[in-house]
Amino acid sequence: PAHFQVAIDGPASAGKSTIAKILATDLKYVYVDTGAMYRAITLAAKNAGLAYEDEAGITALLPEIKIQFLPGEPVQHVLLNGVEVTEDIRSTEITNNVSLVSSYAAVRSDLVNRQRALTAEQPVIMDGRDIGTTVLPDAQVKIFLIASVEERAERRYKENVQKGMKVDLETLKEEIEARDYKDSHREISPLTKADDAITVDTTGQNIDQVVATIKTIIEDHQ
Ligand code: C5P
Repeated sequence: PAHFQVAIDGPASAGKSTIAKILATDLKYVYVDTGAMYRAITLAAKNAGLAYEDEAGITALLPEIKIQFLPGEPVQHVLLNGVEVTEDIRSTEITNNVSLVSSYAAVRSDLVNRQRALTAEQPVIMDGRDIGTTVLPDAQVKIFLIASVEERAERRYKENVQKGMKVDLETLKEEIEARDYKDSHREISPLTKADDAITVDTTGQNIDQVVATIKTIIEDHQ
């Protein structure tokens, strides 16, 4: 690719977006949060009064859906048809239904096109489930970011407490495992490590350590 591409894939709550955003800021790359795009489609279905099972209805909605990212701290702002949905796309309801909506062929092809278009003019760091395998198969750097499910549930638990959301640790662990299972077993571009991806296990590592590890990998590939 003409512009440098870093793909970060991995299971839910492995820290992909936290790490990708810091790397993008430090390296002056554009950060693309593809999970937020699937979440936005899921919220658009809800807002339209559609059942998440309604594949035809959701497919028909796609041409009318506009998704924008605007800079923000500590997270980017996400706009759905001009309306800020940054927090709404992270609700428990959206989180627990996004895997179903993201399994639909039309949803995937539509978003993959949008994601590739974002790489045309600048270097990118993109995170998701199928970036290294499907969206950016020629990315110069591919990272597969993992952590134990216990640690991922604990990280999500702490985030939720900060937001004032009450979900017990065991439920979070079950939800994370259920989402990973669905994402890894769907028919189209399931979550899987690309053959040429480098696995980075973040269990027991803090954010700075993971950022440093991946920066070294990126430098080695430049
Ligand atoms: O990354 P995040 O947890 O926000 O992703 C939400 C969901 O979106 C995932 O569980 C998965 O179902 C879907 N997704 C996907 N492909 C991607 C990114 C996310 O199917 N590239």
